[in-house]
Amino acid sequence: MANIISAEYKTVQFQRFSRLNRVLHIMMIVSFISLALTGMTLKFSYTSWAAILSHILGGFESAGFIHRFAAVIMFSVFFIHIIDLIRMRRKEYNSWKELLLGKNTMLFNKKDWHDLRDSLKWFLGLGERPQYGRWTYWEKFDYFAVFWGICVIGSTGLTLWFPEFFTSLGIPGWLINVATIIHSDEALLATGFIFTVHFFNTHLRPEKFPMDLVIFSGRVPLEEYKLDRPKEYNELVESGALEEYLVEPYPPIVIRAIKVFGWTALIFGFSIIIWIIYAMIFAYR
Ligand code: HEM
Repeated sequence: MANIISAEYKTVQFQRFSRLNRVLHIMMIVSFISLALTGMTLKFSYTSWAAILSHILGGFESAGFIHRFAAVIMFSVFFIHIIDLIRMRRKEYNSWKELLLGKNTMLFNKKDWHDLRDSLKWFLGLGERPQYGRWTYWEKFDYFAVFWGICVIGSTGLTLWFPEFFTSLGIPGWLINVATIIHSDEALLATGFIFTVHFFNTHLRPEKFPMDLVIFSGRVPLEEYKLDRPKEYNELVESGALEEYLVEPYPPIVIRAIKVFGWTALIFGFSIIIWIIYAMIFAYR
């Protein structure tokens, strides 16, 4: 493998995420935090925190309005992503097979199972760090967790939003109660997962601590990328395509703005987790 990292590349960065993907992720963060905050004020309405928060949000009714508005943003993110996949298949891939089963697929394949096994060995000091490619197994898991979550939380949320419409289709009334339970429990699961496991995998693991900015800036220092994703790096070097992904870093002011947004999201997320734990242990009804 040619060693293309010379002194001039020291400040060069690798473009990992497109502008659209970054904007969609920011919209997802804003909508998810809004949904979790307003949803939890309803779920844990008997806690003093919920009363304070709902007062700040303009009352429980207005929290319900914000909840529905944020849901529309989340649905938009989902549909724009699906349209982008169709565009990618037309412009960047020759077939659905190549998009869904090619080397950069988001679907689980044999390498993911090998990486999972080798990662466990590596955690125990019994082997080397696996040669991760473009997407790791935990990123694929997070990606499909969103698909699953949107289907379950989204469909039950729409049922709670438009109960007359759904019952007019013949759905029995008791299913609305079931939808409330599923919506509420899946919301708890999603919030718990995102603000602990997802935050740990992306920001808190030792290589990235305290925060990985790549989802906001879209770019990562080339040296870091080479260590983090050796398989993809080697493939791009060998095919001669690496140059196409090299970009300048953003100016410090942009990085500062990104950090303010990122830290705000992390603080909101951790605070919601502390609130949930408090409500479940000390105030549960
Ligand atoms: C994405 C589509 C979603 C839709 C359409 C939706 C819709 C709704 C609606 C209509 C309600 C009843 C609110 C009221 O009575 O004013 C509700 C409650 C709730 N939502 Fe959502 N929601 C969505 C996503 C989420 C997400 C992502 C979360 C959390 C991460 C969440 C958490 C909650 C919680 C905790 C409740 C209260 C349930 C209870 O009373 O126990 N929702 N949602």
